[in-house]
Amino acid sequence: MKFECFATTIMGLEDVAARECREILGVEARPDVGKIFFEADEDDIIRLNLTSRTIHRIFVLLSRSRAEVLDDVYRAARSVDYTGFIGADQAFAVKGERHSKNKPFTSMDMAAAVGRAVIESFRERTGVRLRVNLDNPDVQLYCLIRDSELLIGLDTTGKSLHRRYYRVYHHRAALQPSIAASMLMLSGWRREEALLDPMCGSGTIPIEAALMALKVPPGARRLSDLALNKLKFIDGDRVREIAEELEAEVDLGFKPRIIGSDASPKSIKGAIMNAETAGVLNAIRFMMGDVLKLGGWLDEKPSHIIMNPPYGIRMGVRKIEEFYQKVCTSIRNAAPDARLTVIVSKPVVFGRALESAGYIIESRRQIMYGKLNAFIIMATPR
Ligand SMILES: C[S@@+](CC[C@H](N)C(=O)[O-])C[C@H]1O[C@@H](n2cnc3c(N)ncnc32)[C@H](O)[C@@H]1O
Repeated sequence: MKFECFATTIMGLEDVAARECREILGVEARPDVGKIFFEADEDDIIRLNLTSRTIHRIFVLLSRSRAEVLDDVYRAARSVDYTGFIGADQAFAVKGERHSKNKPFTSMDMAAAVGRAVIESFRERTGVRLRVNLDNPDVQLYCLIRDSELLIGLDTTGKSLHRRYYRVYHHRAALQPSIAASMLMLSGWRREEALLDPMCGSGTIPIEAALMALKVPPGARRLSDLALNKLKFIDGDRVREIAEELEAEVDLGFKPRIIGSDASPKSIKGAIMNAETAGVLNAIRFMMGDVLKLGGWLDEKPSHIIMNPPYGIRMGVRKIEEFYQKVCTSIRNAAPDARLTVIVSKPVVFGRALESAGYIIESRRQIMYGKLNAFIIMATPR
């Protein structure tokens, strides 16, 4: 059966998620604010949860309407038939998210109204009063209002897919893996090409690159905690079969040329622990090294450099500008042909550093990264 679905992702990277969805499922996906819309059947929903690198959560769309007041939210939720999605013996919860300043209700009010509507709709159809369990529900519903558009969805993912199975070492400035994967996709890097992240911290960019190169399905590696296991319209045998098919496609024999380096021994130790947990330690060369002295120790010229330099929040503007200048010059001298894909919070300062080191900025896009506005810049040597 085909369902209208939507999936959430990082704001500013919706087109990348839509492209990935198209590649995995072969369906048209339409980018929207912080999410994409597409049609999918049960197998597609399973496959996307197990393989996507850029998507956070995948929902079956139950209702899409306009809502100005709380009563509109209630009415929209009340008109949905939940009996195909929630078992009479299952407990549910509703999570509300409000991205509209001028609405006369809170996200909690919204969640409560949808909760009441679900119970009443289900009781009318079956005579059964559904249980609510906010801490450990079998089925989680989600209602989101942005401006006046209301979406009600059934969560098939649970804990967001960007929470990868391999993060045993937590770097205090770690990049979200879904952003790292998106940067790799945007960069145009192909798995045969040499790649360097010279400020790799806990190794997110090299690990995501290795997972891509070896075709490891990240969601399949945390199969047991995906919400779809408890959904009655999803066949548990199909989940296992698709996970096995995907695992059989993992290309452990492939030897990518990926280097991750950092000046901090603690970070490199942590990156090695993460890569080992990810099962890709053999696919990455981790090295200790100062990016400012790259020319002195780099023994393979990369065609792509993808990196997440310190945001320099606690450094003064002058100091961070000076540091970025030195980083760009060092990289330009040590890897003169490499294409750069960088995430920074000060695009103007980093842009100046790039241009003075002889790079042409090809593109710059803004993304929302937690509460931080960040920018992905792509540059090529002049
Ligand atoms: C924002 S963090 C990178 C986080 C990483 N992307 C992750 O997901 O864990 C920046 C990293 O740059 C490293 N760094 C700072 N100055 C450096 C230098 N001169 N040479 C190499 N690494 C440096 C820091 O040790 C830190 O791990």
